[in-house]
Amino acid sequence: MFTGMSTPEIDLVVYPDECDAFGHLNQASFLSLFERARWEMLRGGPGMDVFTRSNSWPALRKTVIDYRAAAFPGDVLRFQQLLTHVGRTSFTMRQTARRLRDDTLIAAAEFVFVCIDPEGRPTPVPQQFREYMDTRRGDSDVQRITVNGVNLAVEVRGEGPAILFIHGYPLDRTIWRDQIEGLEGFRRIAPDLRGMGQSDAPDLGYSMSIYAADLAAVLDVLGVDDVILCGLSMGGYIALEFVRQQRARVRGLILMDTRADADAPETRRARDAAASMARERGAAAIADGMLPKMLAAGTLGSRPELAEALRTLMGRTPVPGIVGALSAMRDREGSEGLLRTLSGVPSLIVVGEADALTPPALARAMADAIPGAGLAIIPGAGHLPPIEQPRATTEALESFLGSAVMKPSG
Ligand code: MLT
Repeated sequence: MFTGMSTPEIDLVVYPDECDAFGHLNQASFLSLFERARWEMLRGGPGMDVFTRSNSWPALRKTVIDYRAAAFPGDVLRFQQLLTHVGRTSFTMRQTARRLRDDTLIAAAEFVFVCIDPEGRPTPVPQQFREYMDTRRGDSDVQRITVNGVNLAVEVRGEGPAILFIHGYPLDRTIWRDQIEGLEGFRRIAPDLRGMGQSDAPDLGYSMSIYAADLAAVLDVLGVDDVILCGLSMGGYIALEFVRQQRARVRGLILMDTRADADAPETRRARDAAASMARERGAAAIADGMLPKMLAAGTLGSRPELAEALRTLMGRTPVPGIVGALSAMRDREGSEGLLRTLSGVPSLIVVGEADALTPPALARAMADAIPGAGLAIIPGAGHLPPIEQPRATTEALESFLGSAVMKPSG
């Protein structure tokens, strides 16, 4: 079993005859546009006859469509298609339609197909169709998902309740490798935020609110309604912003090595100085400056290979992403008041015992502020427990998820 193979984007124009008396694209036409996008994808790949060549037909068994906004004649809709599940005889496709001009999500749909033979008996999904999809997969579980005009790299693994991992600055989703490997029974979703990792890095357009809106849109594309958030440092600021924007979707909250207060004036000035340094001397200078603060002294001394890997990771962050994140962090609002309102949200605060940037005292204060929140202090870790003490971090998450949120499926 695997999840999330992305296929090429297909652009289709809305014609007047597909619209109702008020000019809106009508529902029957929506269905046929979704279908046309699927055939177009096959036309550009293994051929429209990929099923009939195997004496098999993909019979539609279930459709769920979420209509979000009206589309009008002349609109160009961009269809993005993900194969979210392939079994022996069935497969599930998730499709979204966005208006190209303004990136509005028009509709998102899920289609479940069963392949049948001419007598109507279930038959295996044709090998060539699987192979085509496999070659589209590229980097195993990493999908390319376009949201809010920016193409993001998103790793998606497993089935079960969804956990969204939000990395910090200037990092990428790979800091969650051990947690993504370990937390079986959950649907683990780890995007590279805009401006970092393998995601696009536009020059402008960075704020906590935009990062959170990107994540909400990624969940829309993946068909995830509610989610457990796990944010590290800047990822924690984004998680709190997500709670502000989309509270009804938040099933649990893990805040790791982060803080609830806004930047003090001197920190704001330091952000601007760091942005100037990034522009003048590049990401490597930022990486050199951050490295000693990111890891516990013990990690730095005893694991030079880990320190070097982290320096490389930070040093390849695109400068626009660094500058954008610095301005987003500088301008974020404080969340102290929000924490006190989280009584219905199972929450865990995690911190490295030797975190110099967001020390355990801050974590304790956050755990005290959120009604019923747990606190896990990870020995032998600084600001980055997921990579410094991966096992202990994953175990802390496992025990929280098992007890406070829900048992994983399977
Ligand atoms: C991070 O790790 O995301 C940053 O250090 C957070 C910050 O600078 O406030």
